[in-house]
Amino acid sequence: MKRIIAVAAGLTLAAGLVFAGGAQDSKQKMIGLAMPETHVERWQKDGAALKADAEAKGYIAEVTYGDADQAKQNQQIQDMLTKGAKLLVIGSVNEGVISAVADAARDKVLVIAYDRLITNSADYDYYITFDNYKVGQFQGKALETALNLAAATKDKPKYITLFAGAPTDNNAKVFFDGAIDVLRPYVEKGALVLVGPAPLKSGDADFTKITTENWRADIAKARMENLLNNDAKNYVLDGVLAPNDTLARAIIEACSTDAKYAGGKLPVVTGQDGEAASIAAIRDGKQYMTVFKDTRKLAAATIDLADALLNAKTPSIAGARLDTASYNTGKKVVKAYLLEPVIVTKENYKAVMIDSGYYKESDIK
Ligand code: BGC
Repeated sequence: MKRIIAVAAGLTLAAGLVFAGGAQDSKQKMIGLAMPETHVERWQKDGAALKADAEAKGYIAEVTYGDADQAKQNQQIQDMLTKGAKLLVIGSVNEGVISAVADAARDKVLVIAYDRLITNSADYDYYITFDNYKVGQFQGKALETALNLAAATKDKPKYITLFAGAPTDNNAKVFFDGAIDVLRPYVEKGALVLVGPAPLKSGDADFTKITTENWRADIAKARMENLLNNDAKNYVLDGVLAPNDTLARAIIEACSTDAKYAGGKLPVVTGQDGEAASIAAIRDGKQYMTVFKDTRKLAAATIDLADALLNAKTPSIAGARLDTASYNTGKKVVKAYLLEPVIVTKENYKAVMIDSGYYKESDIK
């Protein structure tokens, strides 16, 4: 009897130790969250949601913002490594991040590329993002519908101009390819005229002419003003392919001061991210559409992935499609988890952006 009690007590003690040890371990593990910038609104939401989700799972979490400066972000990553982070979630500024990713790999710290693929690195295995090609397709299809390209002809074509994101962000190429693949057939039959530089895929030499360094609104605005006074001077533009909301509003601002587009006759302008100011512009008929990528869902899926990897479990990420073949960094094919983007127009912005709790009605000014 004594023996049984002693064994039982021993087992209880052991179980207690294992439990306490387990709980303590997961509490002590740190996840570093390196976001690229704050001048595009979404990243602050990404950072906040990632931190909250990681902490809810018992991790220590630290979030940093790189101010679109890769040297600064690399320093932030080094600091996280010094503090003993076990996993890094990196939304990189540009490819210069790979030295920091190599340092993480050397320290056996896991890296998840967040939203933006880290190219030219073999030092990580996981990428999580939205279906970015589909984002571009939504933008292309929005122009196709709004301009009724099916009815346009060589004699009565529609006119648009093209903008893309940062040349150093792999996503910018994917968005553009998604959009231009929808538009290309109309360009080829003359029903759609591209005013200004006219790349027909992201690999074309002219692609760099439509890109916008670090996704900066002031650069897009200046380029649009320049187009309006030069290449687009003798056209009334029917549309502008804008890659995200920050740039869409800068482009709309430039058009608003041009006499041809005064009095509400703005071109159809696309967007992405569902920024509050763009939802207001969509409501007011200034911006035509945006593509919503719910940062709450991306953050939750990322922390689920991080948690599985840190506990050596096979990840099973709800709401994400696993693609193990298509995402090549140039050095290795990584496992990519893709979430679904949602197209937003005047018709559904309330349901998608407000009823879902992403914004309060009062956020949309
Ligand atoms: C993201 C977009 C964002 C852009 C500028 C891209 O990599 O996917 O959501 O608008 O960067 O920050």
